Amino acid sequence: MLKDHQCGELTDANVGQKVTLAGWVHRRRDHGNLIFIDLRDRAGLVQVVFNPESAKEAHHIAESFRSEFVVKVTGIVTRRPAGTENLKMPTGMVEVAAESVEILNESRTPPFYVNEDVDVDESLRLKYRYLDLRRPRMLNNMILRHNVIRFMRRYLDDRGFLEIETPILLKSTPEGARDYLVPSRLYPGKFYALAQSPQQLKQLLMVAGIEKYYQIARCFRDEDLRADRQPEFTQLDLEMSFVDEEDMMELLEGLFSSLAEAVTPHKKFRKPFPRLSFNDIMERYGCDKPDLRFGMELADLTDIAAVTGFGVFSGTVAKGGVVKAIAAPGCGGYNKNQVDDLINLAKQLGAAGLVPIALGSEPGDIDTLEMDKVRSVAAKYLTIDQIRDMARRAGARAGDLLLIVAGDRERSNGVLGGLRNELGCRLNLADPDELAFAFVVDFPLFTWNDEDNRWQPTHHPFTAPRAEDMPLLETDPGKVHGRHYDLVLNGYEIAGGSIRIHQPELQRQVFRLLGHNEERIQSLFGQLLDAFEYGAPPHGGVAPGIDRVVAILAGEPTIREVIAFPKNQAGVDPMFGSPSEVTAAQTDQVHISLKLPQ
Ligand code: AMO
Repeated sequence: MLKDHQCGELTDANVGQKVTLAGWVHRRRDHGNLIFIDLRDRAGLVQVVFNPESAKEAHHIAESFRSEFVVKVTGIVTRRPAGTENLKMPTGMVEVAAESVEILNESRTPPFYVNEDVDVDESLRLKYRYLDLRRPRMLNNMILRHNVIRFMRRYLDDRGFLEIETPILLKSTPEGARDYLVPSRLYPGKFYALAQSPQQLKQLLMVAGIEKYYQIARCFRDEDLRADRQPEFTQLDLEMSFVDEEDMMELLEGLFSSLAEAVTPHKKFRKPFPRLSFNDIMERYGCDKPDLRFGMELADLTDIAAVTGFGVFSGTVAKGGVVKAIAAPGCGGYNKNQVDDLINLAKQLGAAGLVPIALGSEPGDIDTLEMDKVRSVAAKYLTIDQIRDMARRAGARAGDLLLIVAGDRERSNGVLGGLRNELGCRLNLADPDELAFAFVVDFPLFTWNDEDNRWQPTHHPFTAPRAEDMPLLETDPGKVHGRHYDLVLNGYEIAGGSIRIHQPELQRQVFRLLGHNEERIQSLFGQLLDAFEYGAPPHGGVAPGIDRVVAILAGEPTIREVIAFPKNQAGVDPMFGSPSEVTAAQTDQVHISLKLPQ
């Protein structure tokens, strides 16, 4: 090694030792004769002093140091003079008195400060990701990610799981998203698809008798990108034989609670993780992955609204719709612009409109709220008792803002769920030091797709129906519940899994119900159905999304912050400039001719 110590690890115990360090010039300060640099390596910073009296040549070389130069320094660790210690730095009690120094490499002026935590445009950060990763925040995220994955591996190793790799070059199968296709050179006109997940493979491993499998698995999905979605992401993919839902949820709860205790001990969480039913959370939070760190639950005001003189409400109820609301705490004093902004947001979320009722601008008891304090277009059609009743139902106090949506149930829930999420953020309602885990269960097995006019799997087609719902498969598929469980955390779905179908006939029946004909079933899923003919054990599994888990534990707003080399929001890698064109020779080789849009 070119060095014998890490900068960030020097302490009082090293005082008097001669050390050789190597790293990057983080900062340079000239104080009269003396030059101070903070030398940085992965372990952190240490101050190095160049004194022309005792090390003339080293001092001379240090005069040419610029930020991010790579240097090697040999010197003696000394205690800093009294009064100059820096308690903010772990190495702040000591410094290194340089004796000799060598510049290992120079650096151009970086396009942004590596040594300051300033906001930098994301595309610039991604173009120079190797510099961005030098910043402490990003380094810490990489360390956290490493620790999370290491913890997961150990946890499962200790419980008898085998880590097994599965192919990435797979076959196009419908799993929910679009596939990334890879043309075959050897077989003209044929394609591999990059695995959207190892779903069928892990089930085949159960047929193979592996019983407990896991993998840190790369998955590829060509879908619209969001803060919590990348085209290429990583799952802790796992599968077990001879289990039911309870076993799987127990494993997940054990894994995630010990993970949180180990890697983020300062964060608090509740155990056992609550189990919430899908319908219930859609009614209460308007979303299937609610952030449970704050209340603001959706209240059903339909019965109260039905008997008011406000046509929007009573008319909706007469047509079979619902009237639901949330209470935005302390927002009763919002001005017209702020209220209009919420109305626009509701419209973007799909509402025909939003009825805000400001319950006065001063906090207080709802029972003493008087009509002259209420502000709303609907106020003149409502009595103060009706307003108070609605407010109480929504858990509002005087000084709050009631936000009411009238319409069909599903859409109204979705709109209020979206408003709840947005207001939760804007009003800082969620405690950043809390981890609110919960399981979501009782999902419908199928969801009706209006556009295609057919059933689609709510998750994927391999999820087993509940035994008692089996007769409904033929008669009323929409009422069949799946043996599925999601794990949600702070408003994100961090894992999805299920007990699978392991009987070939039942699996065929589900494929048929999803609109696949026999030929397609055989071509897409023949391998799995064949395997099921040879003694498939009952099995189930789950796949936590590692990027999301790490982002939440790190308190980062997007998963891009915890991936070393992510794509940007447009699916582009600004550093490599991918996706990129290839040569005609390359496309010829794989028998592809391009038909580009005008
Ligand atoms: P599912 O599709 O629900 O299930 O994915 C499981 C988990 O993976 C994460 N995830 C993503 N993370 C980042 N970017 C994406 N584009 C992305 N898509 C999904 C989420 C999600 O909860 N084979 C099944 C699992 C199973 O049934 O065992 C599957 O892939 O955290």
